Amino acid sequence: MKIGIIGTGGIATSAHIPNYQSAGAEVVAVMNRTKEKGETVAKQFGIPNVYETVEEMLRHETLDAVSICTPNAFHKTQVLQALDAGCHVLCEKPPGISENEAKEMLQAAKRAKRTLHFGFHYRHRADTELLKRMIDAGEFGDMYATTALALRRRGIPGWGVFTDKELHGGGALLDIGVHMLDLALYIMGYPKPTEVLGHVGQYLGTRPGVGLLGEWDATSFSVDDTARAMVKFENGASLLLDVSYMANLEQKDVMRVECRGTRAGATLFPLTVHTEKHGALFDETPAYLEQHDPYARQIEHFLKACQTIPDYRQAEEAVILHHIIDRIYA
Ligand SMILES: NC(=O)c1ccc[n+]([C@@H]2O[C@H](COP(=O)([O-])OP(=O)(O)OC[C@H]3O[C@@H](n4cnc5c(N)ncnc54)[C@H](O)[C@@H]3O)[C@@H](O)[C@H]2O)c1
Repeated sequence: MKIGIIGTGGIATSAHIPNYQSAGAEVVAVMNRTKEKGETVAKQFGIPNVYETVEEMLRHETLDAVSICTPNAFHKTQVLQALDAGCHVLCEKPPGISENEAKEMLQAAKRAKRTLHFGFHYRHRADTELLKRMIDAGEFGDMYATTALALRRRGIPGWGVFTDKELHGGGALLDIGVHMLDLALYIMGYPKPTEVLGHVGQYLGTRPGVGLLGEWDATSFSVDDTARAMVKFENGASLLLDVSYMANLEQKDVMRVECRGTRAGATLFPLTVHTEKHGALFDETPAYLEQHDPYARQIEHFLKACQTIPDYRQAEEAVILHHIIDRIYA
Protein backbone atom coordinates (compact mmCIF):
# COMPACT_ATOMS: atom_id res chain seq x y z
CA MET A 1 0.00 0.00 0.00
CA LYS A 2 1.14 3.55 -0.72
CA ILE A 3 1.00 5.86 2.28
CA GLY A 4 1.19 9.64 2.74
CA ILE A 5 1.93 11.33 6.06
CA ILE A 6 0.48 14.72 7.03
CA GLY A 7 2.50 16.36 9.83
CA THR A 8 6.03 15.09 10.46
CA GLY A 9 6.52 15.77 14.19
CA GLY A 10 6.96 13.49 17.19
CA ILE A 11 4.21 10.92 16.69
CA ALA A 12 4.76 10.65 12.92
CA THR A 13 8.46 9.89 13.31
CA SER A 14 8.27 7.73 16.43
CA ALA A 15 5.17 5.67 15.63
CA HIS A 16 3.59 6.05 12.17
CA ILE A 17 6.42 6.14 9.62
CA PRO A 18 8.63 3.39 11.14
CA ASN A 19 5.66 1.10 11.76
CA TYR A 20 4.28 1.47 8.21
CA GLN A 21 7.72 0.68 6.89
CA SER A 22 8.19 -2.37 9.10
CA ALA A 23 4.68 -3.61 8.17
CA GLY A 24 5.74 -3.60 4.49
CA ALA A 25 3.76 -0.52 3.39
CA GLU A 26 5.47 2.09 1.25
CA VAL A 27 5.56 5.62 2.67
CA VAL A 28 5.84 7.56 -0.58
CA ALA A 29 5.17 11.13 0.56
CA VAL A 30 5.18 13.44 3.55
CA MET A 31 3.58 16.84 3.98
CA ASN A 32 4.51 19.32 6.69
CA ARG A 33 3.59 22.96 7.03
CA THR A 34 7.27 23.78 7.43
CA LYS A 35 8.72 22.11 4.34
CA GLU A 36 12.30 21.94 5.68
CA LYS A 37 11.06 19.78 8.55
CA GLY A 38 9.31 17.50 6.07
CA GLU A 39 12.51 17.26 4.03
CA THR A 40 14.60 16.31 7.06
CA VAL A 41 12.15 13.54 7.98
CA ALA A 42 11.92 12.31 4.37
CA LYS A 43 15.71 12.04 4.25
CA GLN A 44 15.83 10.24 7.59
CA PHE A 45 13.32 7.57 6.47
CA GLY A 46 14.15 7.39 2.76
CA ILE A 47 10.78 8.85 1.63
CA PRO A 48 10.92 10.18 -1.97
CA ASN A 49 8.41 13.07 -2.04
CA VAL A 50 7.86 16.11 0.19
CA TYR A 51 4.99 18.61 -0.01
CA GLU A 52 4.09 21.86 1.64
CA THR A 53 0.30 21.58 1.29
CA VAL A 54 -2.19 18.74 1.60
CA GLU A 55 -3.81 19.69 -1.73
CA GLU A 56 -0.48 19.39 -3.54
CA MET A 57 0.28 16.00 -2.03
CA LEU A 58 -3.17 14.58 -2.82
CA ARG A 59 -3.06 15.96 -6.37
CA HIS A 60 0.36 14.56 -7.26
CA GLU A 61 0.31 11.21 -5.47
CA THR A 62 -1.89 8.14 -5.83
CA LEU A 63 -2.21 7.13 -2.20
CA ASP A 64 -4.08 4.23 -0.64
CA ALA A 65 -3.99 5.70 2.85
CA VAL A 66 -2.96 8.77 4.80
CA SER A 67 -1.89 9.27 8.42
CA ILE A 68 -2.77 12.59 10.01
CA CYS A 69 -0.27 13.63 12.68
CA THR A 70 -0.88 17.37 13.05
CA PRO A 71 -2.20 19.47 15.97
CA ASN A 72 -5.82 18.65 16.82
CA ALA A 73 -7.40 21.74 15.27
CA PHE A 74 -6.31 20.57 11.79
CA HIS A 75 -7.52 16.96 12.07
CA LYS A 76 -11.07 17.41 10.76
CA THR A 77 -10.18 19.44 7.66
CA GLN A 78 -7.30 17.14 6.74
CA VAL A 79 -9.35 13.97 7.39
CA LEU A 80 -12.03 15.31 5.04
CA GLN A 81 -9.46 16.24 2.38
CA ALA A 82 -7.88 12.79 2.48
CA LEU A 83 -11.21 10.90 2.48
CA ASP A 84 -12.58 13.02 -0.36
CA ALA A 85 -9.44 12.14 -2.34
CA GLY A 86 -10.33 8.45 -1.89
CA CYS A 87 -7.77 7.59 0.81
CA HIS A 88 -8.29 5.48 3.91
CA VAL A 89 -7.33 7.54 6.96
CA LEU A 90 -5.59 6.92 10.27
CA CYS A 91 -5.89 10.15 12.24
CA GLU A 92 -4.10 10.73 15.52
CA LYS A 93 -6.11 11.20 18.71
CA PRO A 94 -8.27 13.03 19.58
CA PRO A 95 -10.41 12.49 16.46
CA GLY A 96 -11.25 16.21 16.31
CA ILE A 97 -12.14 18.93 18.74
CA SER A 98 -15.96 18.65 18.92
CA GLU A 99 -18.94 16.36 18.35
CA ASN A 100 -19.86 18.31 15.21
CA GLU A 101 -16.40 17.67 13.77
CA ALA A 102 -16.70 13.95 14.61
CA LYS A 103 -20.07 13.83 12.85
CA GLU A 104 -18.61 15.50 9.74
CA MET A 105 -15.77 12.97 9.68
CA LEU A 106 -18.18 10.03 10.01
CA GLN A 107 -20.32 11.34 7.14
CA ALA A 108 -17.23 11.90 4.99
CA ALA A 109 -15.99 8.33 5.61
CA LYS A 110 -19.38 6.92 4.63
CA ARG A 111 -19.57 9.18 1.59
CA ALA A 112 -16.10 8.11 0.46
CA LYS A 113 -16.63 4.47 1.51
CA ARG A 114 -13.23 4.51 3.18
CA THR A 115 -11.97 3.29 6.56
CA LEU A 116 -11.37 5.91 9.24
CA HIS A 117 -9.37 4.92 12.32
CA PHE A 118 -7.95 6.99 15.18
CA GLY A 119 -4.71 6.77 17.15
CA PHE A 120 -6.01 5.06 20.28
CA HIS A 121 -3.04 2.75 20.72
CA TYR A 122 -3.96 1.69 24.28
CA ARG A 123 -6.67 -0.46 22.65
CA HIS A 124 -3.88 -2.42 20.99
CA ARG A 125 -1.83 -3.29 24.08
CA ALA A 126 -1.57 -7.04 24.66
CA ASP A 127 -3.26 -6.77 28.08
CA THR A 128 -6.17 -4.72 26.69
CA GLU A 129 -6.64 -7.17 23.84
CA LEU A 130 -6.73 -10.06 26.33
CA LEU A 131 -9.24 -8.26 28.57
CA LYS A 132 -11.47 -7.49 25.57
CA ARG A 133 -11.43 -11.15 24.49
CA MET A 134 -12.49 -12.18 28.02
CA ILE A 135 -15.29 -9.57 28.12
CA ASP A 136 -16.52 -10.52 24.66
CA ALA A 137 -16.61 -14.17 25.78
CA GLY A 138 -19.05 -13.15 28.56
CA GLU A 139 -16.65 -13.79 31.43
CA PHE A 140 -17.38 -10.43 33.10
CA GLY A 141 -21.19 -10.57 33.04
CA ASP A 142 -22.86 -7.15 32.76
CA MET A 143 -20.36 -4.27 32.81
CA TYR A 144 -22.00 -1.68 35.05
CA ALA A 145 -19.14 0.61 36.13
CA THR A 146 -15.77 1.87 34.93
CA THR A 147 -13.23 4.34 36.26
CA ALA A 148 -10.72 6.06 33.96
CA LEU A 149 -7.68 7.87 35.34
CA ALA A 150 -5.17 9.94 33.34
CA LEU A 151 -3.18 11.79 35.97
CA ARG A 152 0.14 13.57 35.83
CA ARG A 153 1.66 15.32 38.83
CA ARG A 154 3.75 17.72 36.73
CA GLY A 155 3.20 16.65 33.11
CA ILE A 156 2.38 19.60 30.88
CA PRO A 157 4.19 18.96 27.55
CA GLY A 158 7.02 21.41 27.01
CA TRP A 159 7.03 20.91 23.21
CA GLY A 160 4.50 21.36 20.41
CA VAL A 161 1.33 23.42 20.83
CA PHE A 162 -0.44 21.32 23.48
CA THR A 163 -1.13 24.31 25.73
CA ASP A 164 -2.74 26.41 22.97
CA LYS A 165 -6.54 26.16 22.93
CA GLU A 166 -6.76 27.49 19.37
CA LEU A 167 -4.51 24.77 17.97
CA HIS A 168 -5.31 21.86 20.28
CA GLY A 169 -8.94 22.53 21.13
CA GLY A 170 -8.42 21.55 24.77
CA GLY A 171 -5.80 20.49 27.28
CA ALA A 172 -5.47 17.58 29.68
CA LEU A 173 -8.92 16.19 28.82
CA LEU A 174 -8.48 16.26 25.04
CA ASP A 175 -4.84 15.19 25.14
CA ILE A 176 -4.41 12.45 27.76
CA GLY A 177 -7.91 12.07 29.26
CA VAL A 178 -9.22 11.11 25.85
CA HIS A 179 -7.02 7.97 25.80
CA MET A 180 -8.44 6.53 29.03
CA LEU A 181 -11.97 7.78 28.33
CA ASP A 182 -11.89 6.00 24.96
CA LEU A 183 -10.49 2.86 26.58
CA ALA A 184 -13.17 2.74 29.28
CA LEU A 185 -15.91 3.27 26.68
CA TYR A 186 -14.35 0.64 24.40
CA ILE A 187 -14.30 -1.89 27.25
CA MET A 188 -17.97 -1.09 27.98
CA GLY A 189 -18.88 -1.51 24.29
CA TYR A 190 -19.44 2.23 23.74
CA PRO A 191 -22.91 2.52 25.34
CA LYS A 192 -25.05 5.58 24.65
CA PRO A 193 -24.50 8.36 27.24
CA THR A 194 -27.58 9.97 28.79
CA GLU A 195 -26.13 12.31 31.45
CA VAL A 196 -22.75 13.96 31.93
CA LEU A 197 -21.64 15.89 35.00
CA GLY A 198 -18.34 17.63 34.41
CA HIS A 199 -15.76 19.84 36.09
CA VAL A 200 -12.86 21.40 34.18
CA GLY A 201 -10.43 24.10 35.20
CA GLN A 202 -7.04 25.77 35.08
CA TYR A 203 -5.50 25.62 38.51
CA LEU A 204 -1.72 25.18 38.19
CA GLY A 205 -0.89 25.47 34.46
CA THR A 206 -1.07 29.26 34.45
CA ARG A 207 1.66 29.56 37.10
CA PRO A 208 5.34 28.75 36.54
CA GLY A 209 6.44 25.53 38.28
CA VAL A 210 8.31 22.26 38.01
CA GLY A 211 7.98 20.73 34.51
CA LEU A 212 8.71 16.99 34.34
CA LEU A 213 7.95 16.99 30.58
CA GLY A 214 9.88 20.15 29.78
CA GLU A 215 9.28 23.85 30.23
CA TRP A 216 5.93 25.23 29.17
CA ASP A 217 4.92 28.86 28.89
CA ALA A 218 2.58 29.53 31.83
CA THR A 219 1.74 33.01 30.51
CA SER A 220 0.14 31.61 27.33
CA PHE A 221 -1.37 28.46 28.89
CA SER A 222 -4.95 28.57 27.60
CA VAL A 223 -6.24 25.00 28.16
CA ASP A 224 -7.61 22.89 31.02
CA ASP A 225 -5.14 21.26 33.42
CA THR A 226 -7.94 19.43 35.27
CA ALA A 227 -11.03 17.55 34.12
CA ARG A 228 -13.32 15.32 36.17
CA ALA A 229 -16.63 13.79 35.20
CA MET A 230 -19.33 11.27 35.82
CA VAL A 231 -21.17 9.81 32.85
CA LYS A 232 -24.36 7.73 33.00
CA PHE A 233 -25.47 5.51 30.12
CA GLU A 234 -28.74 4.32 28.64
CA ASN A 235 -28.00 0.74 29.81
CA GLY A 236 -27.74 1.88 33.46
CA ALA A 237 -23.93 1.77 33.63
CA SER A 238 -21.73 4.68 34.72
CA LEU A 239 -18.17 5.93 34.22
CA LEU A 240 -15.97 8.10 36.44
CA LEU A 241 -13.18 10.14 34.88
CA ASP A 242 -10.30 11.94 36.60
CA VAL A 243 -7.70 13.78 34.51
CA SER A 244 -4.84 16.15 35.24
CA TYR A 245 -1.81 17.59 33.45
CA MET A 246 -0.53 19.04 36.68
CA ALA A 247 -1.88 18.57 40.22
CA ASN A 248 -0.66 18.08 43.76
CA LEU A 249 -0.90 14.29 43.76
CA GLU A 250 1.11 11.43 45.23
CA GLN A 251 1.61 9.72 41.85
CA LYS A 252 3.86 11.05 39.08
CA ASP A 253 1.95 9.50 36.20
CA VAL A 254 -1.12 7.23 36.20
CA MET A 255 -2.89 5.80 33.13
CA ARG A 256 -5.45 3.39 34.49
CA VAL A 257 -8.86 1.92 33.80
CA GLU A 258 -10.88 -0.15 36.26
CA CYS A 259 -13.99 -2.00 35.16
CA ARG A 260 -16.62 -3.79 37.17
CA GLY A 261 -18.90 -6.49 35.81
CA THR A 262 -21.41 -8.67 37.63
CA ARG A 263 -19.19 -11.78 37.23
CA ALA A 264 -15.70 -10.24 37.30
CA GLY A 265 -13.87 -6.93 37.41
CA ALA A 266 -10.45 -5.87 36.15
CA THR A 267 -7.73 -3.30 36.47
CA LEU A 268 -5.49 -2.08 33.63
CA PHE A 269 -2.42 -1.54 33.55
CA PRO A 270 -1.09 -4.22 33.97
CA LEU A 271 -4.12 -6.52 33.76
CA THR A 272 -5.46 -8.02 36.97
CA VAL A 273 -8.85 -9.76 37.01
CA HIS A 274 -10.89 -9.74 40.23
CA THR A 275 -13.40 -12.54 40.85
CA GLU A 276 -15.13 -14.66 43.46
CA LYS A 277 -14.99 -18.46 43.19
CA HIS A 278 -16.11 -21.18 45.62
CA GLY A 279 -16.32 -18.80 48.56
CA ALA A 280 -12.95 -17.15 47.91
CA LEU A 281 -11.86 -13.89 46.29
CA PHE A 282 -9.26 -14.13 43.51
CA ASP A 283 -6.96 -11.67 41.83
CA GLU A 284 -5.65 -13.24 38.63
CA THR A 285 -2.83 -12.06 36.39
CA PRO A 286 -1.60 -13.73 33.18
CA ALA A 287 1.50 -15.84 33.86
CA TYR A 288 2.47 -15.52 30.20
CA LEU A 289 1.21 -13.00 27.68
CA GLU A 290 3.11 -12.35 24.49
CA GLN A 291 3.87 -8.63 24.26
CA HIS A 292 3.89 -6.41 21.17
CA ASP A 293 4.31 -2.72 20.40
CA PRO A 294 0.78 -1.22 20.52
CA TYR A 295 1.66 1.45 17.93
CA ALA A 296 2.91 -1.24 15.51
CA ARG A 297 -0.21 -3.30 16.20
CA GLN A 298 -2.42 -0.29 15.49
CA ILE A 299 -0.79 0.27 12.10
CA GLU A 300 -1.11 -3.46 11.23
CA HIS A 301 -4.78 -3.36 12.27
CA PHE A 302 -5.38 -0.24 10.13
CA LEU A 303 -3.63 -1.69 7.06
CA LYS A 304 -5.68 -4.87 7.37
CA ALA A 305 -8.93 -2.88 7.74
CA CYS A 306 -8.11 -0.92 4.57
CA GLN A 307 -8.12 -4.16 2.61
CA THR A 308 -11.61 -5.30 3.60
CA ILE A 309 -15.01 -3.54 3.73
CA PRO A 310 -14.85 0.09 4.95
CA ASP A 311 -14.78 0.29 8.76
CA TYR A 312 -16.86 3.17 10.16
CA ARG A 313 -17.09 1.82 13.70
CA GLN A 314 -14.35 4.00 15.19
CA ALA A 315 -15.82 7.05 13.44
CA GLU A 316 -19.22 6.26 15.00
CA GLU A 317 -17.58 5.83 18.41
CA ALA A 318 -15.80 9.17 17.96
CA VAL A 319 -19.19 10.92 17.83
CA ILE A 320 -20.10 9.48 21.27
CA LEU A 321 -16.62 10.26 22.64
CA HIS A 322 -16.76 13.88 21.51
CA HIS A 323 -20.36 14.24 22.71
CA ILE A 324 -19.15 13.37 26.23
CA ILE A 325 -16.11 15.67 25.95
CA ASP A 326 -18.27 18.55 24.69
CA ARG A 327 -20.64 18.07 27.63
CA ILE A 328 -17.73 18.01 30.13
CA TYR A 329 -16.32 21.26 28.68
CA ALA A 330 -19.82 22.78 28.67
N1 LIG B 1 -1.21 8.39 20.25
C1 LIG B 1 -0.45 9.06 21.10
O1 LIG B 1 -0.13 8.59 22.20
C2 LIG B 1 0.04 10.42 20.72
C3 LIG B 1 1.24 10.91 21.25
C4 LIG B 1 1.67 12.18 20.86
C5 LIG B 1 0.89 12.95 20.01
N2 LIG B 1 -0.29 12.47 19.54
C6 LIG B 1 -1.14 13.30 18.66
O2 LIG B 1 -0.44 13.52 17.43
C7 LIG B 1 -0.70 14.83 16.95
C8 LIG B 1 0.62 15.55 16.74
O3 LIG B 1 1.34 15.54 17.95
P1 LIG B 1 2.95 15.53 17.97
O4 LIG B 1 3.35 15.18 19.36
O5 LIG B 1 3.49 14.72 16.85
O6 LIG B 1 3.20 17.09 17.74
P2 LIG B 1 4.47 17.79 17.09
O7 LIG B 1 4.36 19.22 17.45
O8 LIG B 1 5.71 17.04 17.44
O9 LIG B 1 4.22 17.59 15.50
C9 LIG B 1 3.22 18.24 14.76
C10 LIG B 1 3.73 18.47 13.35
O10 LIG B 1 2.68 19.00 12.54
C11 LIG B 1 3.21 20.11 11.79
N3 LIG B 1 2.07 20.97 11.47
C12 LIG B 1 1.48 21.91 12.23
N4 LIG B 1 0.40 22.41 11.62
C13 LIG B 1 0.31 21.76 10.42
C14 LIG B 1 -0.60 21.82 9.35
N5 LIG B 1 -1.65 22.64 9.35
N6 LIG B 1 -0.38 21.00 8.27
C15 LIG B 1 0.68 20.18 8.26
N7 LIG B 1 1.58 20.08 9.25
C16 LIG B 1 1.38 20.86 10.32
C17 LIG B 1 4.26 20.73 12.67
O11 LIG B 1 5.20 21.48 11.91
C18 LIG B 1 4.89 19.48 13.28
O12 LIG B 1 5.89 18.94 12.45
C19 LIG B 1 -1.62 15.50 17.97
O13 LIG B 1 -2.96 15.38 17.54
C20 LIG B 1 -1.43 14.67 19.23
O14 LIG B 1 -2.60 14.64 20.05
C21 LIG B 1 -0.71 11.22 19.86
